[in-house]
Amino acid sequence: MPSKILIVGACGQIGSELTLALRDIHGNDAVVASDIKSPSSALLSKGPFEVLDATNYDDFKTLVSKHQIDTVYMMAAMLSGTAEKYPEKGWDLNMTSLFNVLNLGKEELISKIFWPSSIAVFGPTTPKVDTPQQTIMEPTTVYGISKQAGERWCAYYNKRYGVDVRSIRYPGLISYKTPPGGGTTDYAIEIFHEALKSKAYTSFLSEDTALPMMYMDDAIHATISIMEAPSDKIKIRSSYNLSGVSFTPEELAQQVKNQIPEFQMNYNPDFRQAIADSWPDSIDDTEARTDWGWTHDFNLEMIVKEMLEGVKSLEEVN
Ligand code: SER
Repeated sequence: MPSKILIVGACGQIGSELTLALRDIHGNDAVVASDIKSPSSALLSKGPFEVLDATNYDDFKTLVSKHQIDTVYMMAAMLSGTAEKYPEKGWDLNMTSLFNVLNLGKEELISKIFWPSSIAVFGPTTPKVDTPQQTIMEPTTVYGISKQAGERWCAYYNKRYGVDVRSIRYPGLISYKTPPGGGTTDYAIEIFHEALKSKAYTSFLSEDTALPMMYMDDAIHATISIMEAPSDKIKIRSSYNLSGVSFTPEELAQQVKNQIPEFQMNYNPDFRQAIADSWPDSIDDTEARTDWGWTHDFNLEMIVKEMLEGVKSLEEVN
């Protein structure tokens, strides 16, 4: 029987592009999109869409059996900035939705799961440069604590119940099609919108805050690659380090200035500075490259070019 896929959180920054990419590969009808709210754009209306609260196990189970789903991409989450404002809500959403999908795997109602982790699993005591796969992990944010605990649960369900769950620690993801939802790395997206609109941007992170980042196309490629790899290649069942580029707000501003010479960057760090300061500058992803053949394509210059063209095309449409 051909694979039937469910994407939870399909209206989000990653989910929306993942849905389109998977529908290109498997066909519109093979990929069911779901979110807690209906899609606001036509983006997802080409194939099946269901409203789903991922924290409700019974609804989740009903949807899986209705569409005979065998693979779930569990993309719903509360990101780092928002979860600091609503700690218990963030913990509840991030953990309950994960347990629900893991338990569907344990009950053998689905056979494969993707669940995203993040660079937020690392903390201030982690080595900052080329952070290794296995290292000190003492996250200090609600989001990071939920992702680190989630990783341990993924490894546990795999070892104890044989659940085929696969995961990547995403860096900050840069894209223009769907806005990000409350992350610490969002400045690297806002800058392009403001550069085109007002030729100026005030960054909420300081000029020298280096963070690991990646263009969305690379992230989607990584997500689909890890899910398509033979099971025995996936040796790490917590989550894989994944690396694209690493840059500071000032380095990004310089690249934007190369394209828009009158662009003016200002700095006014807020509470997200402390979150960024607790995360690595750059990531060593040797294991992902060795185990399932991960490579990235986009360097900083290419990202800036794609983003400026992409945001401009959006503005022309609107
Ligand atoms: N981009 C995410 C955030 O900033 C990190 O996973 O919360």
